[in-house]
Amino acid sequence: MLDLFKRIVDRSPYGVIVVEKHQGKILYTNPILHEWGISERELLKFLLQENPSEVELKNRFFKITKFEEDGNIIFLIEEITPLKTYQRAKKDFVANVSHELKTPISVISSIAETLYLEEKYPFKKRFLERILKRTKEMEALVEDLLILAALESKEGKVIWEDINLKKLAEEVVQNLKEFTDEKNVTIKVEIPDNFRCRCDGHKISILLKNLVENAIKYNREGGQVWIKAYRSGKYTVLEVSDTGIGIPKKHLPFIFERFYRVDKSRSREIRGTGLGLSIVKHIALIHGGKVEVESQPGNGSTFRILIPQ
Ligand SMILES: Nc1ncnc2c1ncn2[C@@H]1O[C@H](COP(=O)(O)OP(=O)(O)OP(=O)(O)O)[C@@H](O)[C@H]1O
Ligand SMILES: [Mg+2]
Repeated sequence: MLDLFKRIVDRSPYGVIVVEKHQGKILYTNPILHEWGISERELLKFLLQENPSEVELKNRFFKITKFEEDGNIIFLIEEITPLKTYQRAKKDFVANVSHELKTPISVISSIAETLYLEEKYPFKKRFLERILKRTKEMEALVEDLLILAALESKEGKVIWEDINLKKLAEEVVQNLKEFTDEKNVTIKVEIPDNFRCRCDGHKISILLKNLVENAIKYNREGGQVWIKAYRSGKYTVLEVSDTGIGIPKKHLPFIFERFYRVDKSRSREIRGTGLGLSIVKHIALIHGGKVEVESQPGNGSTFRILIPQ
């Protein structure tokens, strides 16, 4: 039986390395590693030192699973080069298309705005208003796609600074004032003066803008929004809560996925593309933080961002 298993593993498309834990002696490697042209010693030195879950070697990508069995460390190595190549091509495509669309859309949008402002005939003005509104939506979509592309590239690195969160929150609220007035929503910033947080100020303001935008957009007429910040253990918590329509429990696991919107019928009235919360999650994760959400349909939602300090 053992011999049978050895022959199976010898033919496995996964790389397998078994190392004796105490002396670090290699007990077994299967032939596929040689087909990949990888020296197991070189790979092992790296695996034991760094403990990575993914490795790039000689332009190939590998996913590593590590576990211990009977005093041995076992590494399972799966080649994921085709998946990585596909993901990279998809990312590049989205980034390039968004970049190419940005200029023409902003030209159309500013011309539509001028025509709209100067138009005297009501029915033409209505058409221009629709063109303008839809172009603004396209502009916002392209902007969100570019933010996501930047977050996934080298620009996505966190630039750590000492940030005054109250000031940052007040700026975000100020920039959304027009939207807040339109919905007749009141925003309360409940953050102590001079409350500091170690984070990337620019990215946290994009994150907060998206959360507050949602808290306004999915609120009721005359509703409220609270922005709070406080410490909890090793985290600084940034919290946005609202008195809005809430999110049914079954949707909660998906709302941070790209393009996910809760239900199509309410989405028709409240426009958006479903990218906001994926930007929020991405920014929280690159800070080494996490996102929590609680919601009661009909009563409101609370989003918490935990940033380790
Ligand atoms: N505060 C909230 N209250 C109720 N529902 C919310 C709230 N925030 C998000 N949602 C739900 O989660 C979905 C995803 O939110 P997300 O911000 O990612 O997208 P969006 O607001 O639809 O579009 P955009 O890309 O313009 O932000 C929303 O469509 C909405 O249904
Ligand atoms: Mg949103």
